[in-house]
Amino acid sequence: MRVWRIGGRTVHPIGIGTWGMGGDRLPDGEIFADYRDDDREIEAIRAAVELGQNHIDTAQLYGAGHTEEIVGEAISGLDREELFIATKVWRSHSLRHAVPHAAEESLRKLRIDVLDLLYVHAPWDSIPMDEYIAGLDDAVDAGLTRAIAVSNFSADQLLTAVRLSRHPIVANQVRYNLLHHGQVDSHMRDICAEHGVTIVAYRPVERRLLADQATSPAVLDIAAEVGCTPAQLAIAWVINQPGVVTIPKASSREHLEENLAATRVQIPGGAQARLDSLGRKDGTE
Ligand SMILES: NC(=O)c1ccc[n+]([C@@H]2O[C@H](COP(=O)([O-])OP(=O)(O)OC[C@H]3O[C@@H](n4cnc5c(N)ncnc54)[C@H](OP(=O)(O)O)[C@@H]3O)[C@@H](O)[C@H]2O)c1
Repeated sequence: MRVWRIGGRTVHPIGIGTWGMGGDRLPDGEIFADYRDDDREIEAIRAAVELGQNHIDTAQLYGAGHTEEIVGEAISGLDREELFIATKVWRSHSLRHAVPHAAEESLRKLRIDVLDLLYVHAPWDSIPMDEYIAGLDDAVDAGLTRAIAVSNFSADQLLTAVRLSRHPIVANQVRYNLLHHGQVDSHMRDICAEHGVTIVAYRPVERRLLADQATSPAVLDIAAEVGCTPAQLAIAWVINQPGVVTIPKASSREHLEENLAATRVQIPGGAQARLDSLGRKDGTE
């Protein structure tokens, strides 16, 4: 049976995305906390774990910190060692000395002793990379996280990070789905394979444009041919690739169950080639 790993740890290929739980973004870009749907979101995370998902993806930024609190509440009482908890440090805490402080604050909100994975959320133009990579290394040395990772890094930025860091960079979390290949190309794949970096594909159902709002004729046709939904096709396409896992956000049991069934979807060779040719390569979100 195929297994999916991040830095030597086995994870379910379909993780639990949490953007939008406990907050959102205002039109001017400001992130805000929203406590109104806490019960439903806590229930969704618990349902996902009950259904076998073990990789939870969150971030210091989400819900202005409230999303980590929701995750903390959802996982309280669960077997910590069964879970793989990842969070991301934002630009505001990306100077070397600030990264471990951010990790400590995330641990407090998540109500756990150690993270499984700490990412830098993006490659900030305004901060030298060696600052936040050293901060991630320090967080490992301080026992705050078991492993470190980057997000939204290009292939060349990933290679620089791998060379700068004292501890292995075990993942690059990037927007990657059927319609947007983003930074993922053969160069990125080669670097990831050589250095043991898992690609964590975010936005796998393109915020519903590859789910119930799918309009791409090719996606709709192939899903019908294969006998699955567009969301299942989109998720299967991602996790069938070597070295790739994904983290859709779903807040109902119906969506969770639909997405999890993607692990059983087989895409025939001809359909695979048609799907591979759909994506647009772009470096930006
Ligand atoms: N590193 C980064 O910069 C970055 C950026 C973006 C996202 N992320 C991470 O990646 C995760 C996933 O990305 P995302 O949340 O942006 O996009 P996504 O997972 O592609 O889409 C989430 C949306 O799709 C809906 N959905 C999920 N499954 C569905 C289904 N089977 N049928 C219909 N609708 C379905 C969800 O609705 P319901 O909630 O109603 O189920 C939600 O509105 C995030 O939650 C976050 O953890 C990271």
